[in-house]
Amino acid sequence: MNNWSKESWRDFPIKQQPTYTNIDELKSVEQELSKYPPLVFAGEVRRLKKELAKVARGEAFLLQGGDCAESFSEFNADNIKNKFKVMMQMAVVLTFAGGCPVVKVGRLAGQFAKPRSSDFEEKNGVKLPSYRGDIINGIEFDEKARVPDPKRMIKAYNQSSATLNLLRAFARGGMADLRQVHKWNLEFLKNDALSEKYKQLADKITETLNFMEACGINPSNTPSINETVLYTSHEALLLNYEEALTRVDSLSGEWYNCSAHMLWIGDRTRDPNEAHVEFLRGVKNPVGIKAGPTMTPDSLLELIEKLNPQNEEGRLNVIVRMGADKIESEFPKLLKAVKESGKNVIWSIDPMHGNTIKTSNNYKTREFKEILREVKGFFNVHKAEGTFPGGVHLEMTGQDVTECTGGHKDITEKDLEERYHTHCDPRLNADQALELAFLIAHELKEAMDRKKSSEV
Ligand code: PEP
Ligand code: CO
Repeated sequence: MNNWSKESWRDFPIKQQPTYTNIDELKSVEQELSKYPPLVFAGEVRRLKKELAKVARGEAFLLQGGDCAESFSEFNADNIKNKFKVMMQMAVVLTFAGGCPVVKVGRLAGQFAKPRSSDFEEKNGVKLPSYRGDIINGIEFDEKARVPDPKRMIKAYNQSSATLNLLRAFARGGMADLRQVHKWNLEFLKNDALSEKYKQLADKITETLNFMEACGINPSNTPSINETVLYTSHEALLLNYEEALTRVDSLSGEWYNCSAHMLWIGDRTRDPNEAHVEFLRGVKNPVGIKAGPTMTPDSLLELIEKLNPQNEEGRLNVIVRMGADKIESEFPKLLKAVKESGKNVIWSIDPMHGNTIKTSNNYKTREFKEILREVKGFFNVHKAEGTFPGGVHLEMTGQDVTECTGGHKDITEKDLEERYHTHCDPRLNADQALELAFLIAHELKEAMDRKKSSEV
């Protein structure tokens, strides 16, 4: 790797960073973190890359989702459990429809740093530095809370470590057992139409498992019946933290960012000649590139060349986020250019970040129907081009929040004030996430059927 080191990003222009005032403290936190154990193991990252290579070939589907921003205050076992359950529910819905493996990647155990549209926030004539995520400063609108504090990185590491520990326990310890598929349904989903639809699917799965068991296929010879893997991911934004967790793998001698299995570069920090791209080009993890409406085919190709010069399958995931109005006009040019270049990428759709609006009562929200419209647009474009719609990237939670409007319970603008808990952008609640999974499942089934009929 030419002229790359884990600190070479420091010589490049960088956007969206806090201004730390206590440099000695920052250095000592960085040093301490660099001695801490890695959160993920390079072997797991390689396994994810292999699974993503299947997505790139159209043999599997990627489900990536979680909070916009994790927070210190909402950190508890129930929240983690509910996020895990809703991911599992969505994954079975998609697996069943697509007849293909679903690679599950959470925006969790490290999704703390946020890019902001403005460096400052102003309220009633008072101007303070913007909140940049709990790993950097506090969300409270007061001067002290908004000062970037390096020690928050240690707290974020500890919270990520405890979160991962519980997720690994759920994944291997029985919570992911397909024979428990009915129990993944969340309390507040009981007794409504969506819950009934899920129950019918769960019944079919149980019936199939009984049949398989009668044929001798059981958890002791087929562990995927009662275990799963939930990978972690976050935006690699705060590079001081990312660098401190970047290590050489003793088996391969290669560099891995061991803060998460997959990292992505945000739409605001993806300049090919700046620090974030410099940092990520040197680590072997799978990398996401957010692509909003200002992304041009040339800059996408330049990014792909920098980040994946060997054209390795499963390395890059282009996460398109154009907005429902622009997906069908802006996305095809990117898709065509990459297709012509012969570069291997996964295409996934983030139908959240291009569809954020402000309501008259001043809530940031997203309309369920616009989210769905962008997802549909994404599948339509792939259908027209004969390419594979690889995955979805969602902001969602296992809680019963009221942050996005619409859905089958038809949350209105007025309802938003009831349970609006997000620390940054509005998330789908568990109900809306499951409803969306059923609608995506329909599109995925069609895409898979098309693929199969083109192969025979
Ligand atoms: C995000 O994923 O939370 C985010 C800020 O996205 P984007 O970089 O696409 O705006
Ligand atoms: Co967001």
